[in-house]
Amino acid sequence: MVLSQLQPTKIRGKAILRILGVESSCDETAVAVVENGSHILSSKVASQIAIHAPFGGVVPEIAARAHLANIDVLARQALLEAKTSPSELDAIAVTQGPGLIGALLVGAAYSKGLALSLGVPLIPVDHVEAHVHGALLGLKQDVEEIFPCLSLVISGGHTNLYFMKSPTQYRLLAHSSDDACGECFDKVAKLLGLGYPGGPSIEVQASRGNPHAVPMPTMGGARGCMTFSYSGLKTHMVHVIKSLPTPMTAEKLADVCASFQDEALGQIVRKAKEAARLYPEAKSFLVAGGVAANQRLRHLLEKAVNLSCLYPPLEACSDNAAMIAAYGYHQYRKVLLENHESQDKPFLNHRWESYSRYNYSAVLS
Ligand code: KG4
Ligand code: ZN
Repeated sequence: MVLSQLQPTKIRGKAILRILGVESSCDETAVAVVENGSHILSSKVASQIAIHAPFGGVVPEIAARAHLANIDVLARQALLEAKTSPSELDAIAVTQGPGLIGALLVGAAYSKGLALSLGVPLIPVDHVEAHVHGALLGLKQDVEEIFPCLSLVISGGHTNLYFMKSPTQYRLLAHSSDDACGECFDKVAKLLGLGYPGGPSIEVQASRGNPHAVPMPTMGGARGCMTFSYSGLKTHMVHVIKSLPTPMTAEKLADVCASFQDEALGQIVRKAKEAARLYPEAKSFLVAGGVAANQRLRHLLEKAVNLSCLYPPLEACSDNAAMIAAYGYHQYRKVLLENHESQDKPFLNHRWESYSRYNYSAVLS
């Protein structure tokens, strides 16, 4: 379908749709109010990093309980800040997966109750795909000027590369066969005695180092191979770190971080370049997920692909609910415009499915 057909001035008699987004897939509880998929009225995030820090990783049971304690408070704050009463909401969008199942169920149950009590649709949203919409937040142009496009979601759990025909049509081109890029940053930072999350501390160290100082393997297979892989780079880093005298000098630490960072990001840049070659119709590149905050990535990517690159606002690179509401808006609009018979009750018959992981072989087949 041509995108211009999806651009009515009004949907159900309204020019503006106001959607409440809810996110609870991992260790951030988040609620946001967003208009027409791009204008953020409020975006509240309660991070659980400090709660999980003593355990060295996210504890699913503790995460679910913390979501339960925070979600209603955050929703009230988000509505207050957006100067919106619940009756002014047109729909609720909520993450249905992938994520920790107990954590997901807290957001899903809360959102279902809210949607039922308000009599508005409940839109199930895929968390990873939603990250892409973070890069469209605050967009002033029409989406038609952006699509078709390429997009990357680079986070602690995923390294996914997509070709997108429209805001709701994703074709997965590549994903990681083992660790995710952000996960590799975190593991290497741990080996180097840097804090969690590892990405920001490695980036700071790397900014003072020489990216060519320490030899790195070229990961991710030959040109044309559309699979990411990070476990080999992680193992290489174990050997590099073991081979160096302890404690490492500040200069050495900076060089190790700069060399590691350039290969971890280089793999993404190489595949992004290949995707741009394979999809010449792409008009832009959307880059999202925690690693999208990395300034070196932005520099390398913009040098490699001849496309305008769009990123989320820095605070929306990581998990947030504005991206959930934004993706929910496009899904809602698509259903309303394509499925005229059930316009009054979209999503009512949706079979709810909270999923913890993707079955990539099914997605790609
Ligand atoms: O999207 P996100 O907040 O959460 C997930 O859904 O996973 O991504 C978190 C990941 C962490 O692995 C973190 O180390 C990484 O993003 N990250 C970075 C940077 N900031 C966050 N990686 C590299 N450079 C950064 N500046
Ligand atoms: Zn995420």
